[in-house]
Amino acid sequence: MPSLIPVIAIDGPAASGKGTLARRLARHFDFAYLDTGALYRAVGLQVMRTGGDTENQQDAVKAAQQLADLDLTDPELKSESTGGLASKVATIQAVRDILLKFQQNFAQNPPGDKGGAILDGRDIGTIICPDADVKIFITASVETRAKRRFIEEFGPAGNDEDYTAILNELTTRDKRDMNRASSPLKAAENAHLLDTTNSDIETVFEQALQLISDKITTASLP
Ligand code: DC
Repeated sequence: MPSLIPVIAIDGPAASGKGTLARRLARHFDFAYLDTGALYRAVGLQVMRTGGDTENQQDAVKAAQQLADLDLTDPELKSESTGGLASKVATIQAVRDILLKFQQNFAQNPPGDKGGAILDGRDIGTIICPDADVKIFITASVETRAKRRFIEEFGPAGNDEDYTAILNELTTRDKRDMNRASSPLKAAENAHLLDTTNSDIETVFEQALQLISDKITTASLP
């Protein structure tokens, strides 16, 4: 059954381009957008800044309970090292339970009176919004993703060592995100798979637009 408020779920591994795609789609449809990775990043960073251990349940839960007070626009959230902290707190089920409510509330009541919601992450199509109107699983080879993240973080100043460090961090993060017991990264059964290894964002955007436009027009019919 299509929901009254259209919900688009976009999942995929680190640096797959899901954020760029989701933001563009949200602008296009004038939907509310939630980068759910930022929630885990903010929790991971808070644990680190308060001298806690990201693998300790008590420390991570304490930080997750402060979510409403955490700054989701802190530039430090974007770094690959913060991504690593996020990936660690994300293995703790009690943390996921706290963040689940926030995410589902966003999808059901998109802020700003928007007519729909787009969420990107790892478990949106499988756990957070299993009834999403459209589910997209976006991926790319780990080398392609590392190259993109490397350019984003280091620009022209980056060297081979920086690239290798990013490649290793992403490989570790992929493994942790895919193999954890709680809500591991995987495509929902009815997700549309988009591989961006050899396609640019424009092509991927057009493909996603088509998928969503088809579905939302149908869903809006009485
Ligand atoms: O999408 P991202 O790279 O900003 O996510 C950072 C980490 O947060 C990711 O490695 C795993 C975790 N995460 C998650 O477990 N579930 C989500 N829905 C989003 C992110």
